[in-house]
Amino acid sequence: MSLSIQLSTESPLALSADVLVIAVSPGPLVKQEPLASLDKALSSGLSKLILREEFKGDKDQQLDAPVAGALPFSRLVLLGTGTKGQISNADLRTLAAKAARAANGCKAKSLALIFTDNLAPDKLRYVAEGLVLGAYRFSKYFTGERKPKADLTTVTVGLGAKARIARPHKAAVEMGQKVADAVALARDLVNEPPNELYPAKLASEAQKMAKESGLKCVVFDKKEIDRRGMKLLAAVGQGSVHDPRFIHISYTPKKAKKKLAFVGKGLTFDSGGLCIKPAAGMGEMKSDMAGSANVIGLLAACAAIKPNIEVHGIIASAENMPDANAYRPGDVFGSLDGKTVEIINTDAEGRLVLADALAYARGLKPDVLVDNATLTGACIVALGKNCSGFYATTDRLATQFANAAKDAGEQFWRLPLLEDLKEQLRSDIADLKHTGDRWGGSITAALFLREFVGDCAYIHADIAGPALADRAHGFYPKGATGHGVLTFLRFIEQFAVK
Ligand code: BES
Ligand code: MN
Ligand code: ZN
Repeated sequence: MSLSIQLSTESPLALSADVLVIAVSPGPLVKQEPLASLDKALSSGLSKLILREEFKGDKDQQLDAPVAGALPFSRLVLLGTGTKGQISNADLRTLAAKAARAANGCKAKSLALIFTDNLAPDKLRYVAEGLVLGAYRFSKYFTGERKPKADLTTVTVGLGAKARIARPHKAAVEMGQKVADAVALARDLVNEPPNELYPAKLASEAQKMAKESGLKCVVFDKKEIDRRGMKLLAAVGQGSVHDPRFIHISYTPKKAKKKLAFVGKGLTFDSGGLCIKPAAGMGEMKSDMAGSANVIGLLAACAAIKPNIEVHGIIASAENMPDANAYRPGDVFGSLDGKTVEIINTDAEGRLVLADALAYARGLKPDVLVDNATLTGACIVALGKNCSGFYATTDRLATQFANAAKDAGEQFWRLPLLEDLKEQLRSDIADLKHTGDRWGGSITAALFLREFVGDCAYIHADIAGPALADRAHGFYPKGATGHGVLTFLRFIEQFAVK
């Protein structure tokens, strides 16, 4: 359900909402409005609390003030912004997300979020993104008591009495809502359980999004996958009762300046196959299609904000299961590219489906080819749960991508394509093995993928850690995060302004 976001220049005390959140920068605090009036209404309760809790308005500081009865709100929250005028777009998004989370946390239907410092109209995009992203919940499968009693439906963003609300403000809010809705779509797809979301269902979800957004979407079924020679995708999927699918979504504006292709790993469930994973945590492998969910979300965002760039979304989707018909270690398969691959470990299935997807995407002759995948546990060991790894074939591209991630407020760290590890992929009977030894496992996966991109400018992003969060943080909720969509969108927007 979509959030209704309104803009207002009223004083906070004149607004009515279940929860009032005020963004506060360090300074005289209760000596100035609107905190002065609120403090008065609370008989100095607010100033006392601010002193006791040492709330200064520093970045990431949060103060919950009990306001029972004294104000037309059931809860008052102060959020620190850090030094006036220095808040980044991403910080603004996180702040708005925290406000929405605070409202959801106390079953509020309405929220008023007040900014006392003047906000440029374009900043409202990030406020709107944060509100929608922070309000996000996945409650589809709850019934009865567990069903949320109230949904946050209305947010009033207060801009201070001096602001003049005009068309650019509203346009920015609209844009932010659409972008966040696209990220929420990616989250929904990842949160969906694997018995419900299998490759054919993922394909129909992609088609549904494309239809609603006016995009083109072509799906190859098993027969077409075989006919085209996507042998690695077919191999990974052959142990499942759910056939694989290959999906190509395109956004093709007239007179586009550049062409970018984004590839996503779409394992709707990864049991490991015959090299089966341990039971503990196996259920998390429903998120092994997070890369493909990001691609679907990204294309929805492109359709909404219409950059002057051609964008292709390519997804290889399969379910990796152990079965009498499953592929095995020792098997050798050809690929769409033509190279032969010796299977070492059936749990290293992601790079196989991606190899065929990259070979296909390269045929579109994009200016840049980007893939994203929940690819290796090794990448999580290297960078932790909250940071993705990325590889780039040139330093320039790496800088562009790192800047996009920084602007988007998402953590991506460059890892090296170490050439000497390539020898680990030498097979005795085929062109390539698909895994090396334990050490440098994220790097050898990247080196394997690079074999299938020809001479395309190429970025590989391993999102294995951040795709799923153990707890809410920043603008991410617990569970599926949609981490990556905003970075890729920013990357596209960077090309659009040049
Ligand atoms: N989907 C997993 C990677 C993964 C692990 C994602 C944990 C998110 C959390 C991938 O298919 C996999 O199983 N990779 C193996 C590769 C190994 C067998 C070479 C891994 O990382 O252990
Ligand atoms: Mn696996
Ligand atoms: Zn996997």
